[in-house]
Amino acid sequence: MTVCEAPGKVYLFGEHAVVYGEPAVPAAIERRARVTAEPREDDHVRVTAEDLSLDGFTVEYAGGTGDRPDIDAPAPLVEAAMGYVDAAVRQARSAADAPDAGFDITVESEIPLGAGLGSSAAVVVAGIDAATRALGEPLDREELADRAYRAEFEVQEGQASRADTFCSTMGGAVRVEGDDCEAIDAPNLPFVIGFDGGAGDTGALVAGVRELREEYRFAADTVRAIGDIVRDGEELLAEAVPEADPSRELLEELGDLMDFNHGLLAALGVSARSLDAMVWAARDAGAHGAKLTGAGGGGCIVALDSDAETPTALSYTQGCEEAFRAELATEGVRVVEP
Ligand code: MEV
Repeated sequence: MTVCEAPGKVYLFGEHAVVYGEPAVPAAIERRARVTAEPREDDHVRVTAEDLSLDGFTVEYAGGTGDRPDIDAPAPLVEAAMGYVDAAVRQARSAADAPDAGFDITVESEIPLGAGLGSSAAVVVAGIDAATRALGEPLDREELADRAYRAEFEVQEGQASRADTFCSTMGGAVRVEGDDCEAIDAPNLPFVIGFDGGAGDTGALVAGVRELREEYRFAADTVRAIGDIVRDGEELLAEAVPEADPSRELLEELGDLMDFNHGLLAALGVSARSLDAMVWAARDAGAHGAKLTGAGGGGCIVALDSDAETPTALSYTQGCEEAFRAELATEGVRVVEP
Protein backbone atom coordinates (compact mmCIF):
# COMPACT_ATOMS: atom_id res chain seq x y z
CA MET A 1 0.00 0.00 0.00
CA THR A 2 1.39 3.42 -0.94
CA VAL A 3 0.08 6.73 0.37
CA CYS A 4 0.94 10.08 -1.22
CA GLU A 5 -0.39 13.53 -0.48
CA ALA A 6 -0.20 16.68 -2.60
CA PRO A 7 -1.06 20.29 -1.74
CA GLY A 8 -3.73 22.56 -3.12
CA LYS A 9 -2.88 26.09 -4.26
CA VAL A 10 -4.02 29.66 -4.59
CA TYR A 11 -3.30 31.91 -7.53
CA LEU A 12 -1.41 34.98 -6.42
CA PHE A 13 -1.85 36.20 -10.00
CA GLY A 14 -2.65 35.07 -13.50
CA GLU A 15 -5.43 32.44 -13.70
CA HIS A 16 -7.29 32.29 -17.03
CA ALA A 17 -4.68 34.47 -18.78
CA VAL A 18 -2.20 31.58 -18.31
CA VAL A 19 -4.34 29.50 -20.68
CA TYR A 20 -3.37 31.98 -23.47
CA GLY A 21 0.38 31.97 -22.82
CA GLU A 22 0.60 34.77 -20.25
CA PRO A 23 2.59 33.98 -17.10
CA ALA A 24 0.91 33.03 -13.80
CA VAL A 25 2.13 32.69 -10.22
CA PRO A 26 0.30 30.09 -8.14
CA ALA A 27 1.46 29.18 -4.62
CA ALA A 28 0.93 25.82 -2.89
CA ILE A 29 -0.97 25.85 0.42
CA GLU A 30 -1.05 23.45 3.37
CA ARG A 31 -4.33 21.78 2.49
CA ARG A 32 -3.74 18.38 0.95
CA ALA A 33 -5.37 15.55 -0.96
CA ARG A 34 -4.18 12.14 0.17
CA VAL A 35 -4.40 9.13 -2.15
CA THR A 36 -3.78 5.53 -1.11
CA ALA A 37 -3.09 2.98 -3.88
CA GLU A 38 -3.00 -0.78 -3.33
CA PRO A 39 -2.38 -3.00 -6.38
CA ARG A 40 -4.96 -5.75 -6.98
CA GLU A 41 -4.67 -9.25 -8.44
CA ASP A 42 -7.25 -8.43 -11.15
CA ASP A 43 -7.64 -5.41 -13.48
CA HIS A 44 -10.45 -3.82 -11.45
CA VAL A 45 -10.26 -0.33 -9.99
CA ARG A 46 -12.10 0.27 -6.74
CA VAL A 47 -12.29 3.89 -5.64
CA THR A 48 -13.37 5.05 -2.21
CA ALA A 49 -13.64 8.81 -1.84
CA GLU A 50 -13.88 9.80 1.79
CA ASP A 51 -14.26 13.51 1.31
CA LEU A 52 -14.41 15.25 -2.05
CA SER A 53 -17.24 17.60 -1.14
CA LEU A 54 -19.13 14.31 -0.98
CA ASP A 55 -20.37 12.30 1.96
CA GLY A 56 -18.20 9.43 0.78
CA PHE A 57 -18.80 6.78 -1.84
CA THR A 58 -17.22 3.63 -3.21
CA VAL A 59 -17.15 2.66 -6.88
CA GLU A 60 -15.70 -0.48 -8.43
CA TYR A 61 -15.28 -1.09 -12.13
CA ALA A 62 -13.43 -3.50 -14.38
CA GLY A 63 -11.38 -3.15 -17.54
CA GLY A 64 -12.15 0.18 -19.18
CA THR A 65 -12.28 2.93 -16.58
CA GLY A 66 -15.05 4.66 -18.54
CA ASP A 67 -17.87 2.50 -17.09
CA ARG A 68 -19.96 4.19 -14.44
CA PRO A 69 -21.96 2.06 -12.01
CA ASP A 70 -25.07 3.46 -10.34
CA ILE A 71 -24.25 4.93 -6.97
CA ASP A 72 -26.10 7.07 -4.49
CA ALA A 73 -24.24 10.41 -4.74
CA PRO A 74 -24.76 13.64 -6.76
CA ALA A 75 -23.91 12.75 -10.37
CA PRO A 76 -21.93 15.88 -11.38
CA LEU A 77 -19.67 15.67 -8.35
CA VAL A 78 -19.11 11.95 -8.80
CA GLU A 79 -18.38 12.51 -12.50
CA ALA A 80 -15.89 15.23 -11.65
CA ALA A 81 -14.15 13.24 -8.94
CA MET A 82 -14.13 10.00 -10.94
CA GLY A 83 -12.94 11.68 -14.14
CA TYR A 84 -9.73 12.82 -12.45
CA VAL A 85 -9.15 9.51 -10.68
CA ASP A 86 -9.71 7.65 -13.99
CA ALA A 87 -7.23 9.88 -15.77
CA ALA A 88 -4.64 9.41 -13.00
CA VAL A 89 -5.03 5.61 -13.22
CA ARG A 90 -4.58 5.74 -17.02
CA GLN A 91 -1.40 7.81 -16.65
CA ALA A 92 0.00 5.49 -13.96
CA ARG A 93 -0.72 2.39 -16.09
CA SER A 94 0.96 3.98 -19.09
CA ALA A 95 3.99 5.25 -17.10
CA ALA A 96 4.54 1.82 -15.54
CA ASP A 97 3.79 0.01 -18.83
CA ALA A 98 1.14 -2.00 -16.96
CA PRO A 99 -2.09 -1.54 -18.97
CA ASP A 100 -4.01 -4.12 -16.93
CA ALA A 101 -2.93 -3.00 -13.45
CA GLY A 102 -5.82 -2.93 -10.98
CA PHE A 103 -5.94 -0.84 -7.81
CA ASP A 104 -7.86 -0.19 -4.65
CA ILE A 105 -7.74 3.58 -4.37
CA THR A 106 -8.80 5.76 -1.48
CA VAL A 107 -9.01 9.53 -1.79
CA GLU A 108 -9.21 11.77 1.27
CA SER A 109 -9.13 15.48 0.57
CA GLU A 110 -9.04 18.61 2.74
CA ILE A 111 -9.54 20.70 -0.41
CA PRO A 112 -13.08 21.51 -1.54
CA LEU A 113 -13.79 20.26 -5.06
CA GLY A 114 -13.93 22.85 -7.87
CA ALA A 115 -13.48 25.78 -5.48
CA GLY A 116 -10.29 27.29 -6.93
CA LEU A 117 -7.86 25.62 -4.54
CA GLY A 118 -6.53 23.04 -7.00
CA SER A 119 -8.33 19.96 -5.63
CA SER A 120 -8.34 18.10 -8.94
CA ALA A 121 -4.63 18.77 -9.56
CA ALA A 122 -3.78 17.58 -6.04
CA VAL A 123 -5.81 14.36 -6.49
CA VAL A 124 -4.24 13.68 -9.88
CA VAL A 125 -0.66 14.38 -8.69
CA ALA A 126 -1.02 12.30 -5.51
CA GLY A 127 -2.90 9.57 -7.43
CA ILE A 128 -0.28 9.12 -10.17
CA ASP A 129 2.52 9.24 -7.60
CA ALA A 130 0.87 6.66 -5.32
CA ALA A 131 -0.16 4.31 -8.16
CA THR A 132 3.23 4.32 -9.93
CA ARG A 133 5.08 3.82 -6.62
CA ALA A 134 2.70 0.98 -5.73
CA LEU A 135 3.72 -0.69 -9.03
CA GLY A 136 7.40 -0.20 -8.17
CA GLU A 137 7.87 2.46 -10.91
CA PRO A 138 8.23 5.83 -9.13
CA LEU A 139 8.45 8.87 -11.42
CA ASP A 140 10.76 11.84 -11.08
CA ARG A 141 8.98 15.10 -10.30
CA GLU A 142 9.22 16.51 -13.83
CA GLU A 143 7.58 13.44 -15.36
CA LEU A 144 4.99 13.33 -12.59
CA ALA A 145 4.07 17.00 -13.18
CA ASP A 146 3.90 16.39 -16.92
CA ARG A 147 1.69 13.31 -16.62
CA ALA A 148 -0.57 15.08 -14.12
CA TYR A 149 -0.93 17.96 -16.59
CA ARG A 150 -1.84 15.51 -19.36
CA ALA A 151 -4.47 13.93 -17.11
CA GLU A 152 -6.07 17.33 -16.37
CA PHE A 153 -5.81 18.35 -20.01
CA GLU A 154 -7.73 15.21 -21.01
CA VAL A 155 -10.48 15.62 -18.40
CA GLN A 156 -10.86 19.35 -19.13
CA GLU A 157 -10.98 18.66 -22.87
CA GLY A 158 -7.83 20.51 -23.76
CA GLN A 159 -8.55 23.53 -21.55
CA ALA A 160 -5.85 23.36 -18.91
CA SER A 161 -2.54 25.04 -18.22
CA ARG A 162 0.39 23.41 -16.44
CA ALA A 163 0.03 25.80 -13.49
CA ASP A 164 -2.08 23.78 -11.01
CA THR A 165 -0.38 20.42 -11.52
CA PHE A 166 3.17 21.84 -11.55
CA CYS A 167 2.51 23.82 -8.36
CA SER A 168 0.96 20.82 -6.58
CA THR A 169 3.90 18.60 -7.57
CA MET A 170 6.69 21.01 -6.62
CA GLY A 171 5.16 23.00 -3.74
CA GLY A 172 6.12 26.59 -2.90
CA ALA A 173 5.48 29.41 -5.35
CA VAL A 174 5.94 28.70 -9.04
CA ARG A 175 5.93 30.61 -12.30
CA VAL A 176 4.27 29.10 -15.33
CA GLU A 177 4.31 30.51 -18.85
CA GLY A 178 3.16 28.08 -21.55
CA ASP A 179 5.31 24.96 -21.19
CA ASP A 180 7.95 26.78 -19.10
CA CYS A 181 7.51 26.04 -15.41
CA GLU A 182 9.91 26.95 -12.60
CA ALA A 183 9.93 27.22 -8.82
CA ILE A 184 10.43 30.79 -7.58
CA ASP A 185 11.38 32.23 -4.20
CA ALA A 186 8.59 33.73 -2.13
CA PRO A 187 8.32 35.34 1.29
CA ASN A 188 5.90 34.00 3.95
CA LEU A 189 2.74 35.49 2.54
CA PRO A 190 -0.16 35.72 5.03
CA PHE A 191 -2.91 34.11 2.94
CA VAL A 192 -6.48 34.23 4.14
CA ILE A 193 -9.05 32.17 2.23
CA GLY A 194 -12.79 32.74 2.08
CA PHE A 195 -14.93 29.89 0.72
CA ASP A 196 -18.57 30.37 -0.34
CA GLY A 197 -19.35 26.64 -0.10
CA GLY A 198 -19.87 26.39 -3.87
CA ALA A 199 -17.91 25.48 -6.94
CA GLY A 200 -17.40 26.77 -10.47
CA ASP A 201 -17.34 24.69 -13.64
CA THR A 202 -13.74 25.19 -14.78
CA GLY A 203 -14.35 23.91 -18.32
CA ALA A 204 -17.36 26.19 -18.87
CA LEU A 205 -15.62 29.23 -17.35
CA VAL A 206 -12.49 28.74 -19.47
CA ALA A 207 -14.68 28.30 -22.56
CA GLY A 208 -16.57 31.50 -21.69
CA VAL A 209 -13.35 33.52 -21.50
CA ARG A 210 -12.20 31.99 -24.79
CA GLU A 211 -15.41 33.07 -26.54
CA LEU A 212 -15.26 36.57 -25.06
CA ARG A 213 -11.63 36.91 -26.13
CA GLU A 214 -12.48 35.84 -29.68
CA GLU A 215 -15.41 38.25 -29.92
CA TYR A 216 -14.19 41.38 -28.13
CA ARG A 217 -10.88 43.20 -28.40
CA PHE A 218 -11.30 44.44 -24.82
CA ALA A 219 -11.19 40.83 -23.59
CA ALA A 220 -7.96 40.06 -25.48
CA ASP A 221 -6.50 43.30 -24.04
CA THR A 222 -7.69 42.28 -20.57
CA VAL A 223 -5.91 38.93 -20.84
CA ARG A 224 -2.70 40.78 -21.82
CA ALA A 225 -3.20 43.26 -18.96
CA ILE A 226 -3.40 40.35 -16.50
CA GLY A 227 -0.03 39.23 -17.91
CA ASP A 228 1.38 42.72 -17.15
CA ILE A 229 0.15 42.44 -13.56
CA VAL A 230 1.85 39.06 -13.20
CA ARG A 231 5.14 40.48 -14.54
CA ASP A 232 4.94 43.38 -12.05
CA GLY A 233 4.16 40.93 -9.24
CA GLU A 234 7.12 38.74 -10.16
CA GLU A 235 9.47 41.73 -9.91
CA LEU A 236 8.16 42.48 -6.42
CA LEU A 237 8.60 38.85 -5.32
CA ALA A 238 12.14 38.73 -6.74
CA GLU A 239 13.14 41.67 -4.50
CA ALA A 240 11.70 40.06 -1.33
CA VAL A 241 13.70 37.97 1.14
CA PRO A 242 12.70 34.31 0.54
CA GLU A 243 10.82 32.57 3.38
CA ALA A 244 11.00 35.69 5.59
CA ASP A 245 8.08 37.79 6.79
CA PRO A 246 7.41 40.37 4.06
CA SER A 247 7.53 44.11 4.76
CA ARG A 248 4.27 46.01 5.02
CA GLU A 249 5.23 47.97 1.91
CA LEU A 250 5.66 44.76 -0.11
CA LEU A 251 2.31 43.42 1.13
CA GLU A 252 0.62 46.66 0.11
CA GLU A 253 2.15 46.58 -3.36
CA LEU A 254 1.30 42.91 -3.88
CA GLY A 255 -2.19 43.55 -2.50
CA ASP A 256 -2.78 46.38 -4.99
CA LEU A 257 -1.84 44.06 -7.85
CA MET A 258 -4.23 41.40 -6.49
CA ASP A 259 -7.02 43.99 -6.42
CA PHE A 260 -6.30 44.97 -10.04
CA ASN A 261 -6.17 41.29 -11.03
CA HIS A 262 -9.58 40.67 -9.44
CA GLY A 263 -11.10 43.61 -11.32
CA LEU A 264 -9.79 42.27 -14.63
CA LEU A 265 -11.10 38.75 -13.90
CA ALA A 266 -14.49 40.29 -13.11
CA ALA A 267 -14.35 42.09 -16.49
CA LEU A 268 -13.85 38.67 -18.10
CA GLY A 269 -17.07 37.52 -16.42
CA VAL A 270 -15.63 34.90 -14.07
CA SER A 271 -16.40 36.49 -10.71
CA ALA A 272 -19.64 35.96 -8.80
CA ARG A 273 -21.70 37.92 -6.29
CA SER A 274 -20.42 35.78 -3.40
CA LEU A 275 -16.79 36.18 -4.53
CA ASP A 276 -17.17 39.97 -4.92
CA ALA A 277 -18.82 40.18 -1.47
CA MET A 278 -15.93 38.29 0.15
CA VAL A 279 -13.32 40.36 -1.72
CA TRP A 280 -14.93 43.60 -0.49
CA ALA A 281 -15.35 42.27 3.06
CA ALA A 282 -11.63 41.44 3.15
CA ARG A 283 -10.63 44.85 1.80
CA ASP A 284 -12.97 46.64 4.24
CA ALA A 285 -11.39 44.66 7.09
CA GLY A 286 -7.97 46.01 6.16
CA ALA A 287 -6.57 43.25 3.93
CA HIS A 288 -3.76 44.49 1.69
CA GLY A 289 -5.55 43.04 -1.32
CA ALA A 290 -8.01 40.33 -2.31
CA LYS A 291 -9.00 38.44 -5.43
CA LEU A 292 -10.83 35.34 -6.53
CA THR A 293 -8.58 32.33 -7.02
CA GLY A 294 -8.84 29.67 -9.71
CA ALA A 295 -11.49 29.46 -12.37
CA GLY A 296 -14.05 31.56 -10.45
CA GLY A 297 -17.83 31.36 -10.80
CA GLY A 298 -17.99 30.47 -7.08
CA GLY A 299 -15.61 28.90 -4.60
CA CYS A 300 -12.76 30.80 -2.98
CA ILE A 301 -11.10 34.17 -2.69
CA VAL A 302 -7.59 34.77 -1.39
CA ALA A 303 -6.63 37.86 0.61
CA LEU A 304 -3.35 39.03 2.14
CA ASP A 305 -3.52 40.02 5.79
CA SER A 306 -1.40 39.16 8.84
CA ASP A 307 -4.03 40.48 11.27
CA ALA A 308 -7.08 38.66 12.61
CA GLU A 309 -9.58 41.18 11.15
CA THR A 310 -9.90 39.65 7.69
CA PRO A 311 -10.71 36.05 8.73
CA THR A 312 -13.14 37.41 11.33
CA ALA A 313 -14.85 39.75 8.86
CA LEU A 314 -15.09 36.98 6.26
CA SER A 315 -16.65 34.59 8.76
CA TYR A 316 -19.46 37.16 9.28
CA THR A 317 -19.91 37.88 5.56
CA GLN A 318 -23.13 36.66 4.02
CA GLY A 319 -22.28 33.94 1.52
CA CYS A 320 -19.00 32.99 3.18
CA GLU A 321 -19.21 29.45 4.53
CA GLU A 322 -15.66 29.09 5.80
CA ALA A 323 -12.71 31.43 6.35
CA PHE A 324 -9.25 30.21 7.24
CA ARG A 325 -5.56 31.02 7.10
CA ALA A 326 -3.42 29.02 4.70
CA GLU A 327 0.31 28.52 5.10
CA LEU A 328 2.53 28.30 2.05
CA ALA A 329 3.25 24.57 1.48
CA THR A 330 6.97 24.59 0.80
CA GLU A 331 6.95 20.83 0.11
CA GLY A 332 5.03 19.50 -2.88
CA VAL A 333 3.77 15.95 -3.26
CA ARG A 334 5.21 13.56 -0.67
CA VAL A 335 5.00 9.96 0.42
CA VAL A 336 3.35 9.37 3.79
CA GLU A 337 3.75 6.32 5.98
CA PRO A 338 0.47 4.38 5.86
C1 MEV B 1 -8.04 26.88 -12.86
O1 MEV B 1 -7.57 26.51 -11.56
C2 MEV B 1 -7.10 27.86 -13.48
C3 MEV B 1 -7.40 28.26 -14.92
O2 MEV B 1 -6.41 29.20 -15.31
C4 MEV B 1 -7.38 27.08 -15.85
C5 MEV B 1 -5.99 26.48 -15.99
O3 MEV B 1 -4.98 27.17 -15.81
O4 MEV B 1 -5.92 25.29 -16.36
C6 MEV B 1 -8.75 28.95 -15.04
